[in-house]
Amino acid sequence: MKFKLVKEGWDSIECDALIVPVFENEDEGDVFLVALDEKLGGLIKELQTTEEWTSRSGEVSVIYRPEKLKTARLILLGAGKKESYDSHLIGTLMRKAVLKVKGHQLKRVAFYPRSQVEPKRAAQAMVEGVILATYQADDYKTEDRSKNFVEEILFVGDQDMDATEVESSMERGEILACATNRARKLVNEPGNRVNPSRLAQAAQEVAVKYGLEIEVWGEPEIKDQGMGAILAVAQGSDEPARFIILKHFGAPDSEAKPIVLVGKGVTFDSGGLSLKPAQSMEEMKADKAGACAVLAAMQAIAQLGVQKNVVGLIPAVENLPGGRAQRPGDVIRAMSGKTIEVINTDAEGRLILADALSYGRQLEPEFMVDIATLTGAVVIALGKNRAGVFCNDEELFERVSRASDQSGEKLWRMPLDDEYRKEIESPIADIKNVGSRWGGAITAAKFLQEFVEDVPWCHLDIAGVDLFKGEGDIKGPTGFGVKTLVEIVDSPSP
Ligand code: BES
Ligand code: ZN
Ligand code: ZN
Repeated sequence: MKFKLVKEGWDSIECDALIVPVFENEDEGDVFLVALDEKLGGLIKELQTTEEWTSRSGEVSVIYRPEKLKTARLILLGAGKKESYDSHLIGTLMRKAVLKVKGHQLKRVAFYPRSQVEPKRAAQAMVEGVILATYQADDYKTEDRSKNFVEEILFVGDQDMDATEVESSMERGEILACATNRARKLVNEPGNRVNPSRLAQAAQEVAVKYGLEIEVWGEPEIKDQGMGAILAVAQGSDEPARFIILKHFGAPDSEAKPIVLVGKGVTFDSGGLSLKPAQSMEEMKADKAGACAVLAAMQAIAQLGVQKNVVGLIPAVENLPGGRAQRPGDVIRAMSGKTIEVINTDAEGRLILADALSYGRQLEPEFMVDIATLTGAVVIALGKNRAGVFCNDEELFERVSRASDQSGEKLWRMPLDDEYRKEIESPIADIKNVGSRWGGAITAAKFLQEFVEDVPWCHLDIAGVDLFKGEGDIKGPTGFGVKTLVEIVDSPSP
């Protein structure tokens, strides 16, 4: 697919479809709207008065062969209230519009953003929206259901727009959205297709293709490092654990402290002996969403040539209740030397992350960010629109928060008060892996903090936002976190 900036009038572009946003509360005298309505012989006004069409956000209507335009179709994109029109909305709307025309044999599609949003941000969002719309979650349908996709997307700009700036933003959008789709595809892989060693293979492929350094450890190396918590989770499955290390050396000063990203890679989470109920257990193939976000972010970081040293760590295991599975009550020793009483084997993510964070600490990083489908409790707290963010450092939180504004992936800060630490005190070991029923996302984060100690660190709990389940929207993985991780890394250090 090609993306181009064209500096032509919106009414003279020859294409298969021209997409134009229309707002709910537009002034009837708006210069553009008047001009458009004139070209359409008063159709817009008519549709509005008969209430056949409103400009509610996400509404899409197609007008065929508008006589006075050069496009074969005009797609009016309901954009809601004018004042809330921003680049994130452009992305979402473009996704909807492209899904609507998918399979219609359209080759050349143009988007006229109208003003208000900075051109480079609008252009990037357009590209992201279109690429995200090309993802299909039906990899294992035997009949080929892939639809014909658009070949060329034109961003209709003004004469005075900075072409280099707009074009480089479009390229950034392409890199970020392709990486996000890579994460979505991998998250969608079922447990029988992607186990820890297959996840490592996928990482290897990305590393070779994009020029990342990679190390993959098997169980002997994991054992040598003393990563007892990773091994304890893996021992209930016949599939051995893997520890994946991806490295991007982008800093001009090769000695510069690295940024460490850690992703939870549970390729299937049955709960272990603390078995999950059958209902929706199949969704636990997505318990590797954090790992996939880190892998895809590393891909994008390499492609963008970010001038930082970045290390991606992925502890990969399968959590099953086999004959050698760990039992509730077992005491294990983590890499840091701390002993953990395993109360519930379904709280496995924090165990594997504990060892990965301890390893990350040894790299003396500038800061660490982990991303994990860690708790059902965060879904109760925040629902499916925002991920929970926990952070032990104000400067880093500012950086993460700015990255989330940039990416459009919404976060909500959760507390890390010391009072919550009491919940995970164990009578027999240094710490236990679960607290009471209450504040489960917070006690999970407090558990992780034990292994981070004084390193600036941020934890993203993405359990509620990793999958689309909603009506109307595409089902399947969202790829949440890829863009935010890249923006966190690719922002100036203080
Ligand atoms: N992978 C789950 C968390 C999860 C739940 C992700 C729902 C996506 C959707 C995690 O390993 C888990 O099972 N956590 C337990 C912890 C509990 C035993 C303290 C949970 O949240 O129920
Ligand atoms: Zn679990
Ligand atoms: Zn899990």
